[in-house]
Amino acid sequence: MEYRSYEEPRDLEAVQRIWREVGWIENDEQAKTLAGFLSVGQSLVATIDGEAECLVHCTPGTMAYQNEVLELSAVTAVTTSRIARKQGFAGRLTAQALARDAESGFEVSALGMFEQGFYDKVGFGSGSYEQWITFDPASLTVDRPFRVPKRLGKDDWREIHASLLERKRGHGGCNLSPPEIVKSELEWTENGFGLGYRDGLKGELTHFIWCAPKDEHGPYTIAARAYQSGEQLLELLALVKSLGDQVSSIGLLELGDVQLQDLLKQPFRHRRITAKSAHENSSRSMAYWQLRILNLEACLAKTHLNTPEVRFNLHLTDPVEDFLDQSRAGARGSNWQGIGGEYVVTLGSDSGVEPGERRELETLTASVNAFSRLWFGIRPASSLAITDDLQASASLLNDLDDTMRLPKAHLGWDF
Ligand SMILES: CC(C)(COP(=O)(O)OP(=O)(O)OC[C@H]1O[C@@H](n2cnc3c(N)ncnc32)[C@H](O)[C@@H]1OP(=O)(O)O)[C@@H](O)C(=O)NCCC(=O)NCCS
Repeated sequence: MEYRSYEEPRDLEAVQRIWREVGWIENDEQAKTLAGFLSVGQSLVATIDGEAECLVHCTPGTMAYQNEVLELSAVTAVTTSRIARKQGFAGRLTAQALARDAESGFEVSALGMFEQGFYDKVGFGSGSYEQWITFDPASLTVDRPFRVPKRLGKDDWREIHASLLERKRGHGGCNLSPPEIVKSELEWTENGFGLGYRDGLKGELTHFIWCAPKDEHGPYTIAARAYQSGEQLLELLALVKSLGDQVSSIGLLELGDVQLQDLLKQPFRHRRITAKSAHENSSRSMAYWQLRILNLEACLAKTHLNTPEVRFNLHLTDPVEDFLDQSRAGARGSNWQGIGGEYVVTLGSDSGVEPGERRELETLTASVNAFSRLWFGIRPASSLAITDDLQASASLLNDLDDTMRLPKAHLGWDF
């Protein structure tokens, strides 16, 4: 596979062609915004006859692990043109991007997957279930006043980005660092509009919703939102309720810190009477994002658990090895060959990892996919031992279950 870093003057046109072929852009307007999206972060392209035919793009950011902050590289685009499918381009280029990111100091990688199985081959494991809730805004029970909001438009991308960065985020909450990524997202929302409040000390945007409307009565989609406190969330929901005189349904990703159903009137009745309609009230869940550890030492150094300490040998395998370009290792390419190996791991208030093995300790055998899920608290060890590539004695599984008690992870930022 021939590949290189993306350079706009040389590669933009070919990448626009790829994106048209995969249906991610449909008109010239959208094609123009692609340059902005690619101008922040890092892209690799694989080529045929010198032309880019596959693109992998990563955007830098951070991901919350409880109260710690991890350096995140988000894989925000993987696309292969119609003529380059099934050549192994996407898999191998993603692996190269991971190697580059690991060497640049990123600690974890995360992505939204098109299907389960593909990114597993380079070490990703599925995140937690996220719910997509569709509800009738008039059925919100929030009974409090709200102030007249300010209109937000696509030109307010910097402010919206700053507001997202300052939002309340829990375990798993992600931020993408370059403001331009929000510019592209807003531009890609058809007829998108925002409503928000500037309550910051210097008039900063503190809480907002960004919506994709549809027709007169919806369904509307809340594509992004941010708030810093429960009060601000309730004001936003009161504002959303005010749309209910006209809009019959609105969809959004479950908020995470609160359970939206708590604030819905007769949710079961609404579900029954809207069944199979264009405004069907529902709550659908899917684990649509994945993550993997890039730097085991850094990730464990940021792991602080107020639970019983557990220490064990870890035999870790990393499937990314098979996808990395060995011919480029060392000289000009990457020395990173994944994180497979034998380690002694401590999980507790002060967690850590060292290479090697201790005879007196029990052993956990796992792929990086499964171990990343265990470490992030996606599923307990005893559950991963049934469905994923993770094995240990019953007593070690039990100890791990007692130790890895983390809140449910939510990205809170769709990418
Ligand atoms: C997804 C996409 C990037 C793959 O591109 P590609 O360069 O053809 O992929 P690769 O050649 O590296 O890998 C293809 C292999 O993965 C396998 N694969 C695909 N989906 C899989 C899955 N869910 N589980 C396991 N394997 C899978 C294929 O069967 C194929 O294997 P084979 O070569 O042994 O038949 C391409 O289809 C595309 O651009 N799709 C549209 C855009 C998109 O959805 N991008 C992903 C965004 S997250």
